[in-house]
Amino acid sequence: MLMTFGIISLNINGVIAVAGRQILSEWKAELKTEVKKDDQHQSLQYHLTRLVGGEDRTKLETTGFACDNTSWSLVCITNNPVKIDMSTMHVHLQSSYPDHKSANENTTTTTIVRPYAMQENPWVMNDITPVIITTTEPTQLTCDHNHKHPAVIFSSGGYTGNIFHEFNENLLPLFITTRMFKSHVHFIVVDHKPSFIYKYRRVFSRLSNHEIINPLNDSSVHCFPSVITGLKYHKFLGINTSENPQNSYSMPDFRDFIRQTYKLKTQSIFDNLNGSDPPSLLLISRQTTRKFLNQQEMVKMMEELGFRVIIASSADEMSNVEKFSHVINSCSVMVGAHGAGLANEMFLPDGAVMVQVRPLGFQWDVDSFYSAPAPGMGLEYLEYMMQPDESSLVDEYGLDHPILQDTASVAAEGGYDAARKMYLDKQDLRLNLSRFRETLIEALRLVGRYKDVANA
Ligand SMILES: *[C@@H]1O[C@H](CO)[C@@H](O)[C@H](O)[C@H]1NC(C)=O
Ligand SMILES: *[C@@H]1O[C@H](CO)[C@@H](O)[C@H](O)[C@H]1NC(C)=O
Ligand SMILES: *[C@@H]1O[C@H](CO)[C@@H](O)[C@H](O)[C@H]1NC(C)=O
Ligand SMILES: *[C@@H]1O[C@H](CO)[C@@H](O)[C@H](O)[C@H]1NC(C)=O
Ligand SMILES: *[C@@H]1O[C@H](CO)[C@@H](O)[C@H](O)[C@H]1NC(C)=O
Ligand SMILES: *[C@@H]1O[C@H](CO)[C@@H](O)[C@H](O)[C@H]1NC(C)=O
Repeated sequence: MLMTFGIISLNINGVIAVAGRQILSEWKAELKTEVKKDDQHQSLQYHLTRLVGGEDRTKLETTGFACDNTSWSLVCITNNPVKIDMSTMHVHLQSSYPDHKSANENTTTTTIVRPYAMQENPWVMNDITPVIITTTEPTQLTCDHNHKHPAVIFSSGGYTGNIFHEFNENLLPLFITTRMFKSHVHFIVVDHKPSFIYKYRRVFSRLSNHEIINPLNDSSVHCFPSVITGLKYHKFLGINTSENPQNSYSMPDFRDFIRQTYKLKTQSIFDNLNGSDPPSLLLISRQTTRKFLNQQEMVKMMEELGFRVIIASSADEMSNVEKFSHVINSCSVMVGAHGAGLANEMFLPDGAVMVQVRPLGFQWDVDSFYSAPAPGMGLEYLEYMMQPDESSLVDEYGLDHPILQDTASVAAEGGYDAARKMYLDKQDLRLNLSRFRETLIEALRLVGRYKDVANA
């Protein structure tokens, strides 16, 4: 499924090296941003129109309805009252010009939105419940519930269950789309997935003062002053402030929001730099595929370098965000193989280092999920590229086999699925410790603790 991102290619290395430090220093100036000052006293109309730009904004202002249809997201906004029939997810929208309406019946339009921020991925979009928005004559529906705050409709289906996707397609877009409403907003969650809603209940309850409406167990008619269908997406695990016509919240704001939501103490690794405490390193240890076969030796080497090593290995432990976010927030370095839940970097303090171990055959530069967003989060990013002799596939095929020496040939012959089966599902990792040690020393340098090694 990750291949679906393949069309986007970023020049990672240049960006990281230059932007990392800049953003870190800009960050300081933006701290403690709760709700932006500008947003405090603005009207609902003002916030709604700022969600779209250009012609779409004009259209929203004149007709009361407009959609922002950019690459990954489709967001439709009404700033007129709506009646929503939860049993069919049909949104009935009043026209801006009820007087003219009968004169021109052709202003009636129907728009269908599958409210998930991955519009260009047809496989996942097919599973997302469609929401039907119709501009019609006032319908005969009567409101069972009248609300005075707007609604936001989004899906908790799709790829939730995978933390990268949870942040990428749900939590970040939800923040971008709703933060300025200061929690005066109702969430209507289609494809309601209780485990996901429970996992991030603190995020939802900070973004909305109201109980989540679940159409699966509420088939009544709810009426709202306006509704936003779908969430605005910017980029991988990030926020692009210039893409926001409203010039709204930034990534530091999101990280601040997350820290406050989970009461994470450490804002930056440099805040409480205490020469006598060893820096903590979180090792994310997969138990199924992409296991570290020489994990014991790895840990021993890490400890010799002066790290206090914390090993996270159970999915249960990692799914308890309240607890696990604190563990991560206490660390200066996080190490894991691709696919090991590296989006947990969201909880690292500023200045911390994320080290991604790239399995053999999974080293395409399009795989920028973690490298590209790091600077925006105030993090440093390093990667360790596995060599053929560090792969467990050697045991099966021998070092000279094309599967080890020419990994591109596997994808060329069998497509992404074959490559995925081979390199993600069948491979374990046996890192060359003297080479990997160099990466960790670089991490120590970045967190300002290299002297510990030099003095050892
Ligand atoms: C959004 O864009 C896609 C592709 O250009 C198009 O097929 C679709 O109809 C658009 N949807 C809306 C609601 O404008
Ligand atoms: C509405 O659209 C139909 C077909 O597109 C057209 O025949 C009819 O004249 C239009 N009516 C008005 C009032 O514009
Ligand atoms: C729907 O289910 C949720 C929990 O899943 C519960 O809190 C809520 O009260 C239910 N609502 C109705 C109308 O049954
Ligand atoms: C941010 O958005 C602007 C405006 O849409 C765009 O020109 C720019 O390329 C985007 N930057 C990134 C890093 O995505
Ligand atoms: C820093 O280290 C000293 C001992 O050297 C200890 O008393 C103090 O609590 C530590 N501070 C922090 C913030 O950990
Ligand atoms: C480990 O890497 C080092 C440095 O690249 C190299 O010299 C050494 O031969 C490697 N060890 C093994 C067992 O491959």
